[in-house]
Amino acid sequence: MAIKVIEHGTSAYHEMVALRMEILRKPLGLTFSTDELDKEKKDLLIGAYEEDTLLACCILTPLSRNSYKLRQMAVHQKMQRLGIGAAMMHFAENVARDAGFNSIIINARKTAIGFYEKMGYAIHRNEFIEVGLPHVEMQKKLI
Ligand SMILES: CC(C)(COP(=O)(O)OP(=O)(O)OC[C@H]1O[C@@H](n2cnc3c(N)ncnc32)[C@H](O)[C@@H]1OP(=O)(O)O)[C@@H](O)C(=O)NCCC(=O)NCCS
Repeated sequence: MAIKVIEHGTSAYHEMVALRMEILRKPLGLTFSTDELDKEKKDLLIGAYEEDTLLACCILTPLSRNSYKLRQMAVHQKMQRLGIGAAMMHFAENVARDAGFNSIIINARKTAIGFYEKMGYAIHRNEFIEVGLPHVEMQKKLI
């Protein structure tokens, strides 16, 4: 498996948006607005590949000089629970650390809290609703 940075607007980016649609939005009856996708030009877009096939993706959005928000974490349905999400989190954390960021914040779906806890994240803000689903804010300090 190879984990790489994806460039906004490329065919790899459109493939990433399609995976996010399938895993994160379609099940909720939602899509992405053009504005939402345009704003991703300033983000760090990450994809995990086997050969040329995209297996998983996530996004790092800068929140401040020290802090990134990790969002849009999605692993292909058939490839979940095989360690791909964990590998991608480690890649994203290393990129963030190398860029001088010292914390990552995640708006985690309640169903994914156990995954992020295993990755060393702790609940930072209690339940709120996003995209119609209960979420909690989780944080990890990078050292
Ligand atoms: C949640 C998700 C990103 C995890 O990625 P993954 O590749 O399936 O997870 P991994 O195989 O790397 O799991 C790492 C560890 O977390 C555990 N884990 C994975 N998903 C979990 C979950 N939903 N709840 C509790 N634990 C979970 C695994 O069992 C594994 O534990 P282990 O190290 O003791 O074996 C992925 O399943 C996914 O895309 N789910 C649907 C979309 C989603 O919910 N995205 C997150 C939005 S906030």
